[in-house]
Amino acid sequence: IQKTFLMVKPDGVQRSIIGEVISRFEKKGFQLVGAKLMHISQELAETHYGEHKEKPFFGELVKFITSGPVFAMVWEGENVISVSRQMVGKTNPQEALPGTIRGDYGLIVDKNIIHGSDSPESAEREISLFFESEELTFYKKDADAWIY
Ligand code: GTP
Ligand code: MG
Repeated sequence: IQKTFLMVKPDGVQRSIIGEVISRFEKKGFQLVGAKLMHISQELAETHYGEHKEKPFFGELVKFITSGPVFAMVWEGENVISVSRQMVGKTNPQEALPGTIRGDYGLIVDKNIIHGSDSPESAEREISLFFESEELTFYKKDADAWIY
């Protein structure tokens, strides 16, 4: 079963929507297997967003993501990578549809509330960047029989 890395960014933490974000993925039927509130170091930020190193907004992006605590999570479920990206919505909250997290709560591209892995490769990479394997739990939920 697939896993993904999702993270409430510093703006989402400051605006008290961690619970709302968790609630959406829980209600969808996904399972939370790991989570922590943490400050991202400069080094982790640069590694995590390494694909954007050459972009003009890279400096700003790193500064923003290290500006306050984030809520890092690992979620599990069928096609969780692509389905959660749909629930997150387009990168620019002004283009993100209502009903998506960015569409409902964001307004500006550099403060877009949440990060989600965009492929199986990035999910694996980002999960191992943020979590030790002992920090992830594995458990069966009886309600899964009513989801799957
Ligand atoms: P993430 O889930 O955060 O990776 O977003 P994404 O996959 O939807 O977008 P992408 O990986 O292309 O960009 C990473 C992040 O860089 C975005 O979430 C934005 O916060 C930020 N970003 C993208 N474009 C701009 C921009 O033009 N200006 C600024 N300041 N930030 C940007
Ligand atoms: Mg991305």
